[in-house]
Amino acid sequence: MGKILVTGATGGLGNRTLELLLKKVPANQVAVLVRNPQSEQIAGFIKEGVEVHQGDYFDYNSLLRAFNGVEKVMLISAIAFTDRNTQHFNVIAAAKQAGVKQVIYTSITRREDSDLIIPEVTRSDIFAEEALKASGLEYTILRNPPYFEAMPNYFGSNAYEVGVRVPEGSGKVAAASLYDLAAANVAVLTQNGHENKTYTLNGSDARSFTDIADDLSEISGTRVAHVTISEKEYVENLTSNGVPLHVGEFLSAWLRGINSGEFSETSGDLERLIGRKPMTFKEFFKQRFPQNKA
Ligand SMILES: NC(=O)c1ccc[n+]([C@@H]2O[C@H](COP(=O)([O-])OP(=O)(O)OC[C@H]3O[C@@H](n4cnc5c(N)ncnc54)[C@H](OP(=O)(O)O)[C@@H]3O)[C@@H](O)[C@H]2O)c1
Repeated sequence: MGKILVTGATGGLGNRTLELLLKKVPANQVAVLVRNPQSEQIAGFIKEGVEVHQGDYFDYNSLLRAFNGVEKVMLISAIAFTDRNTQHFNVIAAAKQAGVKQVIYTSITRREDSDLIIPEVTRSDIFAEEALKASGLEYTILRNPPYFEAMPNYFGSNAYEVGVRVPEGSGKVAAASLYDLAAANVAVLTQNGHENKTYTLNGSDARSFTDIADDLSEISGTRVAHVTISEKEYVENLTSNGVPLHVGEFLSAWLRGINSGEFSETSGDLERLIGRKPMTFKEFFKQRFPQNKA
């Protein structure tokens, strides 16, 4: 049997995937693809016996070398604003040429009838899904919802003082934690029966920004308001705090999706894959904002 190779192992999702994978699979059956083999985020895994394959999504030949002897590739999607199409296509084509059996891809959750386009994300994820399906490789597409860990990016870390200040909308978001999504990655990597399937990994707890303000009120013991502001004011608040304009507009597009219910579906796929209830909003907020201080 060939190795399981995890990409993005120095990042949030890939690192947690590796951590959980090593609880199920001996380290000598696992490899990582990293740009920098000296990265401290993987040092512990190397000590355990994980093999390091140096490679870059932009460098086709490095991928071809890295995939030699690999059976399954866990492809953690490339970051926005970095020509994701070229990177994902390189990985898929190199995997095919190197004789990899299965590629698992982390895409974005979306409603099938939706016309919402999150710039730098939606179109390139659809492109990657189609390229993977057309490649002849076995595939599994894991559509990820917004991460809990990204929530404070949307309304800041001082909600207890200023409220949850976001543009108008009552849509709900079924966010999930990086650990639960990593556990789903590991389930797909270590179980049979997930070949040529697409899963929607939304959490089981969908909350609107009004609900989120209520959760924060309960945790803090003080009233946290849900304050509606215009998209213009939302982006201006971010840029006046040093956030680049394109990032402000990017976050604003995610909020448009949340507020319109784009990520509200609770499919149950995540819960079924990990075999337990995923983390809830309240559990996340208690960890992230534990005291009377957000
Ligand atoms: N649903 C959501 O809320 C949400 C939020 C954020 C991101 N995402 C998506 O989910 C992915 C994983 O999230 P994350 O939090 O784990 O991101 P992250 O912490 O930024 O990690 C990204 C990983 O990708 C690697 N990488 C970037 N460019 C690469 C390249 N050209 N070749 C090889 N490796 C490369 C990075 O390696 P280096 O250490 O070399 O940089 C890092 O390990 C993101 O890339 C993004 O597509 C989703």
